[in-house]
Amino acid sequence: MDYKRTLVTCALPYANGPIHIGHLAGVYIPADIYVRYLRMRGEDVLYVCGSDEHGVPITIKAREQGCTPQDIVDRYHKIIKDSFAGLGINFDIYSRTSSPVHGKNASDFFRKLYDDGKFITKESEQFYDVQEKTFLADRYITGTCPRCGNPDAYGDQCEKCGATLSPEELIHPKSKLSGGEIIKKKTSHWYLPLDRYEGWLGRWILDGHKEWRSNVYGQCKSWIDGGLQPRAVSRDLDWGVPVPVEGAEGKVLYVWFDAPIGYISNTQELLPKSWKTWWQDDSTRLVHFIGKDNIVFHCIVFPSMLKAHGDYILPDNVPANEFLNLEGDKISTSRNWAVWADEYLKDFPGKEDVLRYVLTANAPETKDNDFSWRDFQARNNNELVAVFGNFVNRALVLTHKYFNGKVPAKGELTQMDRDALAEIPALKASLERNLAEFKFREALKDALGIARVGNKYISDSEPWKVAKTDMDRCATILHVSLQICADLAVAFEPFTPFSAQKLREMLGISVDAGTDHRRGEQETVNTFKEGEAAALHTRPCGEALTADGLVLRWDDLGREDLLPEGHSLREPQLLFAKVEDEAIEAQLKRLEEIRKAREAAAALKAEPQKEECSFEDFEKMDIRTATVLEAERVPKTDKLLKLTIDTGIDRRVIVSGIAEYYSPEEMLGKQICILANLKPRVIRGIESKGMILMARQGDGKMRFITPQEVLANGAQVG
Ligand code: MF3
Ligand code: ZN
Repeated sequence: MDYKRTLVTCALPYANGPIHIGHLAGVYIPADIYVRYLRMRGEDVLYVCGSDEHGVPITIKAREQGCTPQDIVDRYHKIIKDSFAGLGINFDIYSRTSSPVHGKNASDFFRKLYDDGKFITKESEQFYDVQEKTFLADRYITGTCPRCGNPDAYGDQCEKCGATLSPEELIHPKSKLSGGEIIKKKTSHWYLPLDRYEGWLGRWILDGHKEWRSNVYGQCKSWIDGGLQPRAVSRDLDWGVPVPVEGAEGKVLYVWFDAPIGYISNTQELLPKSWKTWWQDDSTRLVHFIGKDNIVFHCIVFPSMLKAHGDYILPDNVPANEFLNLEGDKISTSRNWAVWADEYLKDFPGKEDVLRYVLTANAPETKDNDFSWRDFQARNNNELVAVFGNFVNRALVLTHKYFNGKVPAKGELTQMDRDALAEIPALKASLERNLAEFKFREALKDALGIARVGNKYISDSEPWKVAKTDMDRCATILHVSLQICADLAVAFEPFTPFSAQKLREMLGISVDAGTDHRRGEQETVNTFKEGEAAALHTRPCGEALTADGLVLRWDDLGREDLLPEGHSLREPQLLFAKVEDEAIEAQLKRLEEIRKAREAAAALKAEPQKEECSFEDFEKMDIRTATVLEAERVPKTDKLLKLTIDTGIDRRVIVSGIAEYYSPEEMLGKQICILANLKPRVIRGIESKGMILMARQGDGKMRFITPQEVLANGAQVG
């Protein structure tokens, strides 16, 4: 270990919506586990995050809701901040990019690069709203999707078919702001010429960081090998950090330029005197936790900015995760397909750790993964309750029953006892290796492995039976079991801190969870009286040192004498409770309703009106009522029905592509409307004379058109 301290950052979440399980599993929970672990090992760690409050989507949301962008970010900043706190994700600072400290810092950063000649300027043509007299970001341009015909596609993406678009490709593009005409207009921007950093990036990452996760390394390699282009670092927009250059009115820093500088700003805000130690001293190790969509910004763009600036250290590792899906579907804020952290906390009070546990067990570390409520329930009931909770509960209840709640004396150890105890150091070693390599899923398996050892040991040794004949042996078994409980109270602190603390309270111990810097340097320097400073060395969730002063550290894990004979335990309570079917069904029902609402909304998105036609055009069509006399599937097809119908003037056959929507039985005897004079066609060898009229809604669902009450066949429609 050749570093003295670790600076951990988490991607700054956009303050345009609450955070969801995808964010938590991808970024914040792994980071939190990592930080808690390092701190328990006595390492100096600073843990920084905050809201990302600039960017176009926030301005769009504000416009839609008739408020200011600041109103939007104020609202979500608070929700997000509270969610993190609620889940025990305790950053040293959680600030925001709309803060004055950040505005100045980002501005100074830009200005230094500008003064040092690190930017190039380029003129380009951008879309411009003539009515509003403003340049338009791609998101502000809407039109018809060239792929699927969706009339509400955005200039960067069609949300219906998922196509990535550029505004040029849209049919009938118009401004989302005014609804009016757009033109192309020249504008000039500053660019970071990433092409100049290519060689350096190749050496630094491709040669120097082969240990990075393969998904991260692979993405970097393909970016670098593909050749880098200059990237614009400014935008024509009125929400953001103003470009600090004369004549740059109406221009702000591009959100992806200012946001990562936010990591630095937030550190300055917390530690105005000593922040440089964390950012400019080679003995600091910088680790960025992010999701995979952020890789290029954290591995290529931001490091190039830091390099261009010259005063800063570079990230040592960037453990990026893949994506989490929800019940088999991509999580999406705009489609409301997510489990929101704030709602979870309301729906499952006291179960913060269950979510932390399940999202770690299922973390999308090497590939996209799925969250399902059934899996959530199963992991809680079969692992947390049945293994971890059950073991701890048996050990504690029996100790209270037979030994008055005091750790009993240890006698001679049997082979079985030694075997159980011997497994712990091996699991500890694996746990440490996995955490060091950012393999949190595997690490959690190791931690649960300790509980499995305990659970098996107590089941096999049956102290409740032994108690009837041999109290000394029973004492030894419980003594050993309680040591394993203490191991769990240490090992689970990074993963499930609330339960680990509850367990420590029952065991009458505490852990040294390391220093956190949440109060900032102001207070730690002067305002604490002696003795009070000790409070800074425990978890701020309020853990006090116990009367017995039994304070465990990470390194104690696996020692066989954590709890001495005679040490008093508190009353046992259940660590985990079962999650019942009703709670799961309620969540599934909520998701089902969202799915339905989405389908209904899709259906309401009516096609735009067709081109005008004359009355004569219309008159040409012979539309009339008819009744289905016979109906059968056309062999070897999925979609076609052969219908024999009575049109009032004849009996004829029509082949219709409605088999997906109606079975032959459903069609029998139904009165429908047909276009009678459509030119006959031969379909699958059958002559079809006419067409059944169907209404098709936005999601593709079809229904036939039928008169409100039965009429004579052959009645003219028109
Ligand atoms: N807001 C971005 C996102 O959610 C992440 C910004 S990370 C930072 O994808 F480094 F730019 F801050
Ligand atoms: Zn489309």
